Amino acid sequence: MAFPVQRMRRLRSSEAIRRMVRETDLSVDDLIYPLFVTHGEGVARPVEAMPGVCNYSIDRMLEELAEVARLKIPGILLFGIPAIKDEYGSEAYKDDGIVQRAVGAIKKEYPNLLVVTDICLCEYTSHGHCGLVRDGQVMNDVTLELLASIALSHAAVGADIVAPSDMMDGRVGAIRSALEAEGYENTLIMAYSAKYASAFYGPFREAAGSAPQFGDRKSYQMDPANANEALREVQQDIEEGADIVMVKPALAYLDVIRRVKEQFHIPLAAYNVSGEYSMVKAAVQQGWVDEKRVVLELLTGIKRAGSDIIITYHAKDVAKWLQEGVEP
Ligand code: PBG
Repeated sequence: MAFPVQRMRRLRSSEAIRRMVRETDLSVDDLIYPLFVTHGEGVARPVEAMPGVCNYSIDRMLEELAEVARLKIPGILLFGIPAIKDEYGSEAYKDDGIVQRAVGAIKKEYPNLLVVTDICLCEYTSHGHCGLVRDGQVMNDVTLELLASIALSHAAVGADIVAPSDMMDGRVGAIRSALEAEGYENTLIMAYSAKYASAFYGPFREAAGSAPQFGDRKSYQMDPANANEALREVQQDIEEGADIVMVKPALAYLDVIRRVKEQFHIPLAAYNVSGEYSMVKAAVQQGWVDEKRVVLELLTGIKRAGSDIIITYHAKDVAKWLQEGVEP
């Protein structure tokens, strides 16, 4: 009964009809732009494995944010690079830590920009793990208190959303009750719920100097082979008080994004991580792919899979291209 009664090409026959029946709409409103903030002044230190990405001191980051605001990107995700690392990640929860100072400065100049802060210890600990270490083990329950202190110190300076990325059990609940107890009941939690033990974080660890000094993260981040487990993680985080859940990385986990979207009706973010960005940049530098079209196609795929929000180092470029009307 189908052909020739149905000719699928009729719906593809002009730009106008393609626009009209397009199912997935990638928009600047979906984007969060990650930034690395460091001590000092006038610093814009390029990250070698991530062309176009720098570690910024607060003054230079504010300049960068002028462009973010001009492009109408709704939010940023902040990572801090501390002055000193120790066993307990002390700078992570200091009132005058790098992220706390940065958030204060940003909120003063850009009160309407959504400021998301990453909550984790790995950038701050000398051993590079996401929790406290005792006898070579990453300890769960004692880490929760520190994570809650980090979140409180970020909320206190005006962070809109705190985003725990450590993968300790119970962290969302611990953070939610600390926020409630201290009067920050309006602070959102974006939980890195299904965060996999991925090789795609390699370039980020160069950017943040956060590679584990022994072992790996497989005892807390998820096994790339698992998807049912991701649904359990998401369910727990929702029960513990998450407002937004996340799947990370994005491209090798599009099925997980889809399944979370179908099962839970909560805003879903996907993190298009550093290694995914670097692979595209490397191919672009070789002249092997068309950057604009490849990036827009990848992000459209992440959106089509079911994510509402995309965290991506390509955010500024994408915002520009969308304004120019570039299509994948
Ligand atoms: C901190 C954290 C990591 C990323 C986000 N938060 C690194 C890691 O878990 O090792 C990765 C982001 C990226 O690769 O772009 N735990």
